[in-house]
Amino acid sequence: MSVRYAFRCIGAVPLILGLLSAGCKGEVVPEALPLVQDAWVTEARQQADRLGGALQQTLRDTIMAQGVEAGIDVCHVEAPEIAARLSAEGWQVGRTALRLRSQDNAPTAWQHEQLLVMQDAPMQDGRPAEAMRVVDQGGTNVFEYLRAIPMQDACMACHGPAIDESVLQTVAQRYPDDEATGFLSGELRGAFVIRRALE
Ligand code: HEC
Repeated sequence: MSVRYAFRCIGAVPLILGLLSAGCKGEVVPEALPLVQDAWVTEARQQADRLGGALQQTLRDTIMAQGVEAGIDVCHVEAPEIAARLSAEGWQVGRTALRLRSQDNAPTAWQHEQLLVMQDAPMQDGRPAEAMRVVDQGGTNVFEYLRAIPMQDACMACHGPAIDESVLQTVAQRYPDDEATGFLSGELRGAFVIRRALE
C-alpha cells in the first residue's frame, strides 16, 4: 500500500518525506526522518481507527440504552479511560480540537497549527486530512500523527447547532468552559493524536 506523506509545514504545503526538511519549523528533526517507517504510519492509522471505533461504539450503546445525557457522563469518564487502555505497545492515543469541551484535550502549538490547516479542508482525496512529524522531546525523538475528525450526524446531539436544553445543562455542569457546540456536518470537530517514541 502506498503511504500518503501528509507531512505538513507552514503554509499548508503537503511535502513528501524527502522534502520535509525544507520549509518546516525548527522542531522537526530531519535526521530522524529515515526512522519513520511506512509500517508506523499504517499502525498510527490503525490506532486512530481503534480509538474512533471504541468511542463511537460506547457512545452508541450508552445513548441507545440510557439517552444522550448518560452519554455525556460516559464520555467524561470513559473517553480518557478508553484512550489510556488503547495506549499500549508504545503508542499514546488521544484527541484534540480547536474549540474544546475538555481543557485536558488542549492542542500543543504544532497541533494547533495543523488543526487550523485541517479546518480549511477536513477531507482530502475522500479521506480525513492527516499530518505527521518527528519531534525532539527532551532528547527523545517522537513520531506524532494527527488525523482530522469531521463532524458527523452521530455527534449532533452533543456538538451540533441545536442541542436539547437538558443536554446543554448537563454539559455546562461538567464543562463550564465548553466551546464544542455549533458544529455543522462535515466541519472539522477535532483530530486524533497518535504518538510514539522512536527507539
Ligand atoms: C453524548 C454526548 C456526546 C456525543 C454524542 C459526542 N460527544 Fe464528543 N465529547 C463529549 C464529551 C462529554 C467530551 C469531553 C470528553 C473528555 O472529558 O475528554 C467530548 C469530547 C470530544 C472531543 C475531544 C476534544 C474536546 O473538545 O475535548 C472530540 C474530538 C469529540 N468529542 C468528537 C466527537 C465526535 C466526532 C462525535 C461523533 C462521532 C462525538 N464527539 C459525539 C460528548 C459527546
